[in-house]
Amino acid sequence: MGRGVLLRYRDFLPLTAATPMITLGEGDTPLVRSVWLERELGCGALYFKLEGCNPTGSFKDRGMVVAVAKAVEERSKSIICASTGNTSASAAAFGARFGLEVIVVVPSGKIAMGKLAQAITYGARIVAIQGNFDQALQIVRNLAEKHPVTLVNSVNPYRLEGQKTAAFEIVDELGDAPDYLFIPVGNAGNITAYWKGFVEYRWAGKASQTPKMMGFQAAGAAPIVRGKVVEKPRTVATAIRIGKPASWQGAVKARDESGGVIDCVSDEEIIAAYKLLARREGVFGEPASAASVAGLIKMAKQGLDLRGKRAVCIITGSGLKDPSFSKKFAESLTEVSPELEAVERVLGWR
Ligand code: F0G
Repeated sequence: MGRGVLLRYRDFLPLTAATPMITLGEGDTPLVRSVWLERELGCGALYFKLEGCNPTGSFKDRGMVVAVAKAVEERSKSIICASTGNTSASAAAFGARFGLEVIVVVPSGKIAMGKLAQAITYGARIVAIQGNFDQALQIVRNLAEKHPVTLVNSVNPYRLEGQKTAAFEIVDELGDAPDYLFIPVGNAGNITAYWKGFVEYRWAGKASQTPKMMGFQAAGAAPIVRGKVVEKPRTVATAIRIGKPASWQGAVKARDESGGVIDCVSDEEIIAAYKLLARREGVFGEPASAASVAGLIKMAKQGLDLRGKRAVCIITGSGLKDPSFSKKFAESLTEVSPELEAVERVLGWR
């Protein structure tokens, strides 16, 4: 534990003798049991996997450590990615630590403040385009073809290799795969990676089953649900504001092979789940992360029988990434003079 993803899961990763065993302390994130929602939904056992506890505050570090280790192994000097924020924060951190130039291309005005602060402070070169993530991804793909720079979006297969280790951790901790895995879907790399991880672990005899993969897009950015590209994706969950997922086929495969579903949740459902998670469970995930919980609630309302079942919701990123989002709910921010009585009065204790 605490050794990082490369050392802990070396037997399942495409490493060679020349791969540097780098780490920033990623992986080994908490799997926390629900204290409220589990009972409310009548679920056998419900867990939250807190991926916001990774070094840059999201699951991206698991894949980035592998992609950067391979880039270093291949003597690359420079890495590039498009991002809704978290990938850029992770690339910037690992790139800084291992001496690589980092270039990130982001949709202008649609990336959470905390994520932008990370890319800036880690010293990445940032280009904000007047467009969306899908356009940014197309641009960095073209740049990586034309120039000597390594693309570290999840179209780089090493990213998914690293991200699948979260599935391993869940099985290692629970002793088997859960019955259901609820996960937000944006560019669809993560659901693809989890499925790969669960399948590999079953093959290796470490699990007796694989979970049903339950992926959730935001309703205004739900190309897989609608079966067609969304040209102008819209959602409050900026991390998953994506209309043309790179791993579309991987997500469909995960759904179909596992017997799961890919559905969508409205912004209202995302916001409700975001608050519930914080206020009933003490878990502060970012809005996109709440899509997994919103999806679970939606399915339960539609009659999914969770009795005797084990379910895991992936909380993909920390709520601290997007502080301006929380500020919208600051109904109780009251200012008073610095006196005991004034504070008592405002609390209704006087
Ligand atoms: N949750 C968070 C917090 C994310 O940042 C992302 C994706 C997802 C869920 C969806 O995962 O794309 O593998 O389906 N963020 C990417 C980024 C797109 O650029 O940081 P996915």
